[in-house]
Amino acid sequence: MQVASSPRLPARAARRLARLSRALGRRAAAPITKPRAEASTRRFHRLYYDRRPQTWSNTSWLGTKVAKCPLDLWVYQELVHELRPALVVETGTFRGGSALFLASCFDLVDHGRVVTIDVEPRPGRPPHPRITYLTGSSTDPSILETVQQDAAAADTVLVVLDSDHSYDHVLAELQAYSPLVTEGSYLVVEDTNVNGHPVLPKFGPGPYEAVETFLESSTAFVRDREREKFMLTFNPGGWLRRLPRTET
Ligand SMILES: C[S@@+](CC[C@H](N)C(=O)[O-])C[C@H]1O[C@@H](n2cnc3c(N)ncnc32)[C@H](O)[C@@H]1O
Repeated sequence: MQVASSPRLPARAARRLARLSRALGRRAAAPITKPRAEASTRRFHRLYYDRRPQTWSNTSWLGTKVAKCPLDLWVYQELVHELRPALVVETGTFRGGSALFLASCFDLVDHGRVVTIDVEPRPGRPPHPRITYLTGSSTDPSILETVQQDAAAADTVLVVLDSDHSYDHVLAELQAYSPLVTEGSYLVVEDTNVNGHPVLPKFGPGPYEAVETFLESSTAFVRDREREKFMLTFNPGGWLRRLPRTET
C-alpha cells in the first residue's frame, strides 16, 4: 500500500503512517488461519445476533416469521433432501415459520410431515396439509404420548428442540425426544449459541450446557460439526446425529 506524501505532514508522522500502512497490508495478505477465522466468525455472529430487529427476528419464509438464521434453514433443506424424513417433530412453533419452511421442502420432495408443539395457541399460524399443530407443553405426558404414537409409524424421524431454552427444560426434552430419532437422523438442539457461545453471555445455563450433560450419558449421538460448515450457525454443537446401532 502506498501513502501519498503530503507537504503538510511532518516527516515523523509520515513515516509512522507508512509503517502502519505496511502493517495493514501484511495483515490483509496474511493467510486466514483457523483461529483467525473462528475469531471473525464469533465477531460476526455477535454482530448479526445483536442486530436482531433487522436480522433474525425479521426473517420470514413465504410471509411467515421464522426465528432462525437463514444458513441454518439451508442446512435443514439439505437434511430433508439427504434423509427424506417421514416426520419432523418440532418443539416450539412460535409463528409457524420453521414448520412452514420444512413443509415447503417436503412439498418439493413430495414426502414428509411436521408435527409442531407450542404451549401458546397463537392464531394466524399458516395452515398446511403437511403440518400438525399441537398445543401444550413439549414435556406434558399426553403430548409426548401423541408424538410417540405418530413417530412409531414413521421410518425416518428428525427432531428439532426449539421451545423453552432453559437448561432443565432442554435436558428434559433431550431425554424425552431422543428415543424418537431414527438411526442416521438428527436431533437438532436450537439456540446453543446463548450463554456466551458466543451470544447473550449472561443467559445462564441453556441448550449448550444441556447438550453437554446429555452427551455424557448418551453414546447413541455425536455432534456433527459438518453441519456447521457455513461457520455461522445458531446451533453450535447442537447438530446431533444418531449413530447406527453397530457404532454405539
Ligand atoms: C424460539 S420460539 C420457536 C421458534 C420457531 N421454531 C421458529 O423457528 O420460528 C420458542 C417457542 O417455544 C414456545 N414454548 C415455550 N415453552 C414451551 C414448552 N414448554 N413447550 C412447548 N413450547 C414452548 C414459546 O411459546 C415459543 O413460541
